[in-house]
This record gives sequence, structure tokens and C-alpha cells, in this order.
Amino acid sequence: MAFSAEDAKTASAVWEKIYADVEDNGAIVLSRMFKENPHTVSYFKNFTQLQSIPETASAEEIAALAEVRGHGKKVFSALNDLVSHLTNVDSLKATIVPLAKKHATELKVDVKDFGIIFENLLHLIGQKQGGDAKEAFEKVTNLIYEEIKAAY
Ligand code: HEM
Repeated sequence: MAFSAEDAKTASAVWEKIYADVEDNGAIVLSRMFKENPHTVSYFKNFTQLQSIPETASAEEIAALAEVRGHGKKVFSALNDLVSHLTNVDSLKATIVPLAKKHATELKVDVKDFGIIFENLLHLIGQKQGGDAKEAFEKVTNLIYEEIKAAY
């Protein structure tokens, strides 16, 4: 299901505000995932700072790591690209498939872990912009998640 032009406009406006602060917000979303779901740290074997930070470190301390900030930017930049394709489901799929396949086969990420990242992102949107914004963007994460699952 593609987005109506109006739904896409509303969701894009929500995203633009979050993306304006990409480095901080990307790091917040990732650090909460690492803190609350420690198994997700184990995928990032190359991230030496993340691998050696004590288990007692707070989400804020994890979010301050250069590796986490840098990777948050990559993830958010990929999401930014997806958000630009909301009204065209074919081009959205074409953008999602290689990303999903890379995570499935090369990085061997459990598809359920995408659910964690989306939940954290929606939580942050709710904190920063309120419940209506969260609801508007949930349509986006649901659509992206469905397409990721289909490509896995
Ligand atoms: C919103 C969902 C996600 C997006 C948009 C996303 C995007 C990306 C991008 C763009 C890259 C870089 C790919 C490249 O260099 O070719 C990447 C790498 C990676 N992603 Fe994801 N990702 C997402 C979710 C996840 C989740 C849930 C996990 C696991 C918990 C994960 C684990 C990884 C790992 C381990 C790498 C490689 C990091 C490295 O060694 O540099 N990703 N991701």
C-alpha cells in the first residue's frame, strides 16, 4: 500500500524535524536499542568502542561514542532516502530490497530486531513531537517493516 500524497506530506514533515538533528537523534535511537537489547551489540563486531564499553554504561554514554554517532547517521540517511519514496511503492521496494538482503544474508540480523529500532524511533518522535506525530510516522515504519520482512 503506497501513501496518499497527504499522508506522505504529514509523515515527511515529522521526519524532517527528526532528521534535522540526525547525529544526536540517530545515536539516541541506536543507543537505546543497545542498552535495552544487549544482544544487538553483538552484531557490531567491528565497533571496538561499543564492544568494550562496560555493561553498566548508560544509554547517554553509549550515544556519545563516535562509532554510534557515525552509524546513527548512516541509518538515518538510509531512512531519509526511504521517506522520499513513500508515494511510489515500487521505488520504495527497490530501495528497501538491497538494504534488507544485506542485513539478512551478510550481516545476519534477525528481522525482529528491525522492530526494536522502529519502536525506539517512534518513542523518540512521541517524546519530541507528541502522539499525533508518532501516529503519523507509525504508518511509515509499518510500511517499511512490512517490505523488509517481505524481502528477507
Ligand atoms: C531502520 C532500520 C535500519 C536501517 C535503515 C539500517 C541501515 C544500515 C546501513 C545504511 C548500513 C551500512 C550498509 C553498508 O555499509 O553498505 C547498515 C549496516 C549495519 N547494520 Fe543496519 N540498518 C537498520 C537496522 C539494523 C538493525 C536492527 C541491526 C541490528 C540490530 C543492524 C545492524 C547493522 C550492522 C551490524 C551493520 C554493519 C556495521 C558495520 O560494521 O559498519 N541494522 N545498516
